[in-house]
Amino acid sequence: MAQLLNSTDKRTHMCAELSASNVGERVCVMGWTQKQRDLGSLIFIDLRDRTGIVQLAFDEKTDTDIFDTAFGIRAEYVLCAKGTVRRRGDGAINKNLPTGEIEIAVDELKVLSSAETPPFEIVEDSNVNAELRLRHRYLDLRRPDMQRNIIARSRISKIARDYYSDNGFVDIETPNLCKPTPEGARDYLVPSRVHKGKFYALPQSPQLYKQLLMVSGFDRYFQIARCFRDEDLRADRQPEFTQIDTEMSFVTADDVMKMHEGFIKKVMKEFAGVELDADFIRMPYAEAMARFGSDKPDIRFGYELTDISDCVKDCGFKVFSGAVEAGGSVRAINVKGGAKFSRKEIDSLVEFVKSYRAKGLAWLKWAEGGEISSSYAKFLTDAENEAIKETVNAEAGDLVLIVADKNKVVFDSLGALRCECAKRMGILDPFDFKFLWVTEFPLLEYSEEDERFYAMHHPFTSPMDEDLQYIDSDPGKVRAKAYDIVLNGTELGGGSIRIHDSEIQKKMFSVLGLSDEEAKEKFGYLLDAFKYGVPPHGGLAFGFDRLVTLLLGLEDIRDVIAFPKVQNASELMTKCPSEPDPKALDELGLCVLADKE
Ligand code: AMO
Ligand code: AMP
Repeated sequence: MAQLLNSTDKRTHMCAELSASNVGERVCVMGWTQKQRDLGSLIFIDLRDRTGIVQLAFDEKTDTDIFDTAFGIRAEYVLCAKGTVRRRGDGAINKNLPTGEIEIAVDELKVLSSAETPPFEIVEDSNVNAELRLRHRYLDLRRPDMQRNIIARSRISKIARDYYSDNGFVDIETPNLCKPTPEGARDYLVPSRVHKGKFYALPQSPQLYKQLLMVSGFDRYFQIARCFRDEDLRADRQPEFTQIDTEMSFVTADDVMKMHEGFIKKVMKEFAGVELDADFIRMPYAEAMARFGSDKPDIRFGYELTDISDCVKDCGFKVFSGAVEAGGSVRAINVKGGAKFSRKEIDSLVEFVKSYRAKGLAWLKWAEGGEISSSYAKFLTDAENEAIKETVNAEAGDLVLIVADKNKVVFDSLGALRCECAKRMGILDPFDFKFLWVTEFPLLEYSEEDERFYAMHHPFTSPMDEDLQYIDSDPGKVRAKAYDIVLNGTELGGGSIRIHDSEIQKKMFSVLGLSDEEAKEKFGYLLDAFKYGVPPHGGLAFGFDRLVTLLLGLEDIRDVIAFPKVQNASELMTKCPSEPDPKALDELGLCVLADKE
């Protein structure tokens, strides 16, 4: 039977707030039973709340009814305990616990709730399988590491709110039931009951609303905003996630980057205790691709890409010369110290690049002892081999890895491979925070499949002034006033200066193959708004979940989200999505045709 709290049961301390300085005080604590130890004439209970653990003690001086109650207590029972704080006996001091010098001699005890044996133990770093954890998320969230993550998230959120508020940003909520927004993922649709056959979309971001708020004159906007994107999930992606979303008026890209860099520096200082004094590196997209094969380069380590096309363009090995001839390139990374990889490990790297559509991976291993083995050297002349070694600066102990293909494949595969090698070399420190801006992104991206251009960021991103001249003749050459902030190989946030000139906006729509009518249908309200006086504006959104994940040195975004979804976008605890009540479908004028799986 659960006992009830009455008006005199007032908690005086959280469990881990108690220390030797409280000795002699009468206190009241409440929490969950971590464990009960019955030593015959003595019983100890470790009581846990979100701050930590305190020991409750029951002995021969304890009232027999209370002693009997303590005897029956099991893990996870919820208790209210009152008593006097006393110093533990010399042998019983636990240096590992903040409250390890003291215990509470209990003289009043209520069992507020009993508990079944949980499906897994509530302990730090449990290696229970992910599915079981997520099915019982409320228990998983009881574990101290998960509690720390979620509380850290709240602290970082407060730092963000403070920073942006202090800098004149107004916190404004935008609708969740809205017209589709242009971020390029699939929309989640919500059927309208009143307007049968019509749907709202859940926002992929507050993009258009925040631009409209600039038209309204709010000047600086921010919101910790929920976004919804129906896309394939990965370790750093969720179908619903949170952005720290911002927009500013009367600014250039430099102003926006400086403002947000200020936020990162503040979080790093207040949350991580790291002072970042220097301005963040700003690296043009083209440089990021050429050096790191990625628009979100991890700059904690080297293994940079080197173009060796010139060394091999005339060689007899068709894999290399053919790639150059076809307009692609041959590039290499030099994994310093990588000669320690076994042949089997190298074979697994060959497999690794195949998932990035590389047809193969050529390699050269130069052992510490001087012995060289290679998959390609025998096809090249001595001079060609020497030229490669020199260009990539190879020496004993190195592993040279080469991909020959279309540039896109070369960049994708080597970009991922350098990170994989760094991981396998064990040289990545998650707490070595290396931020940078990637700038001058291409405005447009050509899809071979659809034979058309897509906006790389979104259709409202402004072209760079000096590239506007190419927008008709060579759209692929136009760079954008867009910037991403990158941390250790993850895109943490992105933004741009927006188009605020209707002529340029029209041009952009036409390059994207949108007719005037289509543009009007989709974004007419924005174009109309711009007719009434629009300030130059731009902004940025951080992926809040990703920021918290990385600051905590974690890998899985789910560890910082209280109730995340799994790979197939379902939630294991509530088992959503689920089939609707037929009556609800009826009211919406909908019927389900799709076969059940
Ligand atoms: P973008 O689409 O680049 O820009 O999104 C901004 C940041 O949001 C995070 N993010 C995600 N995090 C978790 N799960 C996802 N599925 C997911 N998708 C994106 C990333 C990303 O950098 N409206 C523009 C911003 C602007 O132009 O101001 C936008 O949404 O960290
Ligand atoms: P092959 O003659 O096809 O067996 O290839 C010889 C070596 O070249 C092998 O190590 C292959 O993995 C490698 N190789 C094949 N295609 C490529 C490519 N596109 N880029 C780099 N190396 C390749």
